[in-house]
Amino acid sequence: AFDVILQKSGKTVTVPEDRSILEALRDAGFATVSSCESGTCGTCKTRLISGSVDHRDMVLMDEEKEDRIMICVSRAKEGNLVLDL
Ligand code: FES
Repeated sequence: AFDVILQKSGKTVTVPEDRSILEALRDAGFATVSSCESGTCGTCKTRLISGSVDHRDMVLMDEEKEDRIMICVSRAKEGNLVLDL
């Protein structure tokens, strides 16, 4: 598990191994937008403030991977992630 820190909301949500970031946010009561939930449609693109991401989507261009994350499939590579949510 790892934590996502939601900078705008001032909240921290733990993402268990068997849940996506998107699911964990939804479980915690956040309204999230998604569609495919498989890393292909681009709907769930979220701004990444900091953290090391294991990108598992097929949407982001290489140059976007620095500061964007598809939260339906991608995870933290190590440590926690800070998102602009
Ligand atoms: Fe489609 Fe995440 S919901 S890429």
